[in-house]
Amino acid sequence: MALLTVDRLTKRFEGALAVDEVGFSVGEGRCAALLGPNGAGKTTTIRMLTGLLAPTAGTIALEGMKPGQDRREWIGYLPQHPAFYGWMSGHEFLVCAARLCGLSKKEAAERSGELLERVGLGAAGKRRIAGYSGGMKQRLGLAQALIHRPKLLILDEPVSALDPIGRREVMTLLGELKSETTVLFSTHVLPDAEELCDDILVMAAGRLAAGGSLAGIRERNRQPVLSLETEGDARSRAWLAAWLKRLPDGFETASATSTGARLVVRDLEAARRTVLRELADENVRVTKLEVGYTTLEDLFLKAVGSA
Ligand SMILES: Nc1ncnc2c1ncn2[C@@H]1O[C@H](COP(=O)(O)OP(=O)(O)OP(=O)(O)O)[C@@H](O)[C@H]1O
Ligand SMILES: [Mg+2]
Repeated sequence: MALLTVDRLTKRFEGALAVDEVGFSVGEGRCAALLGPNGAGKTTTIRMLTGLLAPTAGTIALEGMKPGQDRREWIGYLPQHPAFYGWMSGHEFLVCAARLCGLSKKEAAERSGELLERVGLGAAGKRRIAGYSGGMKQRLGLAQALIHRPKLLILDEPVSALDPIGRREVMTLLGELKSETTVLFSTHVLPDAEELCDDILVMAAGRLAAGGSLAGIRERNRQPVLSLETEGDARSRAWLAAWLKRLPDGFETASATSTGARLVVRDLEAARRTVLRELADENVRVTKLEVGYTTLEDLFLKAVGSA
């Protein structure tokens, strides 16, 4: 069952169409990644979902909400650039967020303590936020997003600004959280999406360029790839350059690597025969010929490229 359903969502800023008739749904309990390059419209979409920005057109519905109920009661949100008061302690900040959500004093204190433990800040909760690392601030931001037990957690680039240690901390935490609640997070880092999500939504230039379950998308877009490496001698280089220019039938795309090429092909057997014959005829010094399949990155580049 879909928890969130978005239909023809559109946002026009003066002169610019940032989000253009985007439609998708996120199933209850699923983890969905909103992917897209800089400027694709991810943050604008998320800000409309969270009620911070009024859509120009389109609808946003949460399954099970009463008519007139405020969507924000069900949504926990971590912005792309969260801001904190450095002079507050982590605990004070969470209590403040909890009180703003309408929790009683007692509930706010209890829930804050519980969440600080949950995000690994139990000991740091009494310290001032100004002294926190980037990863700690982001985990505090996640605790803030969870304070009112939201049904849907929306995170805008939760790990993009972090160093590798902070990234790993937050990715691990997200891996745990996604089994507890429905999550929608944006990123432009494909391996992050692959590590965490069940579904992906690819945005490009304000439009939804591809979407569906990760497994389904992988299956539908799986194409064979031949990876070829040579010794990089003058003869091999000349052959490669000429070959890449006159790509024969059956080869969909070819990209040069430092001493070889990556070839996306339609018929693996036919392509392999062609390549092997040419390599032998031209006496090319091959060091590797490997068969693989297209990755999510190929799909992303294709979807973004054709948008
Ligand atoms: N308040 C605004 N006024 C005018 N244009 C805006 C505004 N906010 C965003 N835009 C434009 O809308 C487009 C989408 O921006 P958005 O921030 O949603 O992209 P994004 O996918 O989140 O990018 P990033 O990966 O850089 O965070 C961009 O062209 C941006 O310049
Ligand atoms: Mg953004």
